[in-house]
Amino acid sequence: MEKIKIALLGLGTVGSGVREILNEKQEQLSQKIYQKNGQKVTIEIAKILIRRPENYLEADPSLLTTNYQEILDDDSIKVVVEAMGGEHPATEYMISAMEKKKQVVSANKLAIAKSHGSLEEVARKNQVHFSYEAAVAGTVPILRTINDSLVANEITKVSGIINGTTNYILSKMTNEQSSYKDALKKAQELGFAEADPASDVNGDDAKYKIAILSRLAFGKWPDLDSIDCQGITAVTPKQIKDAKTKGKVIKFLAQSEKVNGNIIASVSLQEIDRQHPLAHVEGAMNAVYLHCDNAGELLFQGAGAGSRPTASAVISDVFEIIERYR
Ligand SMILES: NC(=O)c1ccc[n+]([C@@H]2O[C@H](COP(=O)([O-])OP(=O)(O)OC[C@H]3O[C@@H](n4cnc5c(N)ncnc54)[C@H](OP(=O)(O)O)[C@@H]3O)[C@@H](O)[C@H]2O)c1
Repeated sequence: MEKIKIALLGLGTVGSGVREILNEKQEQLSQKIYQKNGQKVTIEIAKILIRRPENYLEADPSLLTTNYQEILDDDSIKVVVEAMGGEHPATEYMISAMEKKKQVVSANKLAIAKSHGSLEEVARKNQVHFSYEAAVAGTVPILRTINDSLVANEITKVSGIINGTTNYILSKMTNEQSSYKDALKKAQELGFAEADPASDVNGDDAKYKIAILSRLAFGKWPDLDSIDCQGITAVTPKQIKDAKTKGKVIKFLAQSEKVNGNIIASVSLQEIDRQHPLAHVEGAMNAVYLHCDNAGELLFQGAGAGSRPTASAVISDVFEIIERYR
């Protein structure tokens, strides 16, 4: 069995999920690769980058490092999984990995959307793969579906509920008549919202994701500044009640379409009919709704966040890189 060595950058929610699943499913993954292309390989985590080793006493100390250069200089590491988050130094770390001809997988929508295609450009230049299925809608395999399964289509519109925190808050306000404040507090207690929920409730998180979806659906990166982005903080129980009496429901929708060659994208509260497929996406769930010229309308739904759901998407990227491109 040949060992394919990977490095994890970050061992938080996502990184620890990747480590757990790779440990548990090592045999299954090897079998699947063998079935697909006859390669006899196992995937092995060779190094894990963290900042504070004292927080990771349960981890194998021989795997941990605080020095990224150690990962870069190790030519036996073929794939770098970036699960640390933030724009910097994550962006620079991904670029330097690609320049060292390492394949890169990332869950970092912020860094990817802010790079506005330059990370992809570096990957192209260095002839390596850069995949980021987990960056949009967590476990939902939407990016690969757009890239691969729908190649025979022109996608005319993408809309979705792609932030679980805000969907949880709105569902709680709609179904249990909670106030915004109480719903947010509950979301934080249940781990559906960060202690600082700003990027979720002001719409930035959904803005990064709709930018990525737009790029894949329409072949072009929209300027982040051009995306009309409104948060949910001003939503009131009265607004939700009024919508209900009209047979409608308020959802926080990210939408994008190409109009006369330009991408028009937005993130905002919308009143939608109760019959609309996105009206029934409840709690912390995410969903993406595509309009395609040949395939018609398609709805994809699943957990938008969480350790194992997100790690499942990250590992699908690692698997694809090994199975198809190595
Ligand atoms: N959480 C989710 O459900 C989810 C879903 C989809 C996508 N994502 C994306 O996945 C990425 C990771 O999210 P997360 O929730 O797993 O974050 P997290 O729980 O905060 O973990 C971050 C990890 O990265 C390490 N790290 C951060 N900055 C570092 C640096 N400069 N050098 C070395 N290590 C560093 C941290 O180490 P220390 O503890 O030592 O600082 C920690 O192990 C983010 O881009 C996020 O947007 C997350």
